Amino acid sequence: MRKLLMLVVVLGLPTGAFAAGGHMSCGAVDCDRVDIDLGDQASLQRGARIFVNYCLSCHSASYMRYNRMGHDLGISDELVKEHLLFSADKVGDLMKAVMPKDDARDWFGVAPPDLSLIARSRKPAWVYTYMRSFYRDSKSPSGWNNTVFAHVAMPHVLYEWQGDQRAVLKKDKHGVEVFDRFEIERVGTMNPKEYDRAMRDLTNFLTYLGEPAKLVRYRIGVYVLIFLAVFIVFAYLLKKEYWKDIH
Ligand code: HEC
Repeated sequence: MRKLLMLVVVLGLPTGAFAAGGHMSCGAVDCDRVDIDLGDQASLQRGARIFVNYCLSCHSASYMRYNRMGHDLGISDELVKEHLLFSADKVGDLMKAVMPKDDARDWFGVAPPDLSLIARSRKPAWVYTYMRSFYRDSKSPSGWNNTVFAHVAMPHVLYEWQGDQRAVLKKDKHGVEVFDRFEIERVGTMNPKEYDRAMRDLTNFLTYLGEPAKLVRYRIGVYVLIFLAVFIVFAYLLKKEYWKDIH
């Protein structure tokens, strides 16, 4: 019996390991923790909306189709058509960027990369921290810089929400100027808590985008655990039955 219990504990452990973050390096700073929850459908839906409205103009997610996303996130084809279909004509289309790659390269110097796998290659905590770390920099061509991605060619597309940040520097023990903290110079339409929540939703969505089958796997995983729990009872009763004459 004890062995069986152990087995359940061992099998059950990975399902508890959803959260991402920890002490990862994000350029000049440590990454902030982000609470990823692919079971939070409302958050995934809000993230999808931000992504389609504010990111697809430059970036693609060309491994994903609109209707697949809608299906996974519980959004009907009609609603996808009405609210999320800006850069395509049909719900079965792939999520391609509005801006042609060559134009983007002329415009920004580098083409905005496809974001399908960004939460896997960079990790969710990195993406979350990056989206909150743009600051005004008069020396950069776009007018923006980022503590996570120094001299990034991407402008801060959500500055109206977050407001304008300024990076305050301090001297470290060797007298070198390093990043200390951000100061809001102009307040945005969201307060910091609301902005963090929106970026958590966006990161949650990008995590889903990196591995859509994960949602299905979690669902199946729960059924498997329920099955095992029920099975253990029968296995135990059977064992008792088999051994009762021997002991
Ligand atoms: C105006 C065009 C534009 C928009 C809109 C835009 N980006 Fe970008 N983004 C870029 C460019 C250009 C780069 C490449 C930056 C570089 O390599 O210096 C980039 C880079 C990135 C990177 C880093 C990729 C890497 O190299 O690891 C991430 C993450 C990212 N964008 C996320 C987003 C998200 C999320 C949104 C929507 C909120 C968004 N971007 C909207 C232009 C854009």
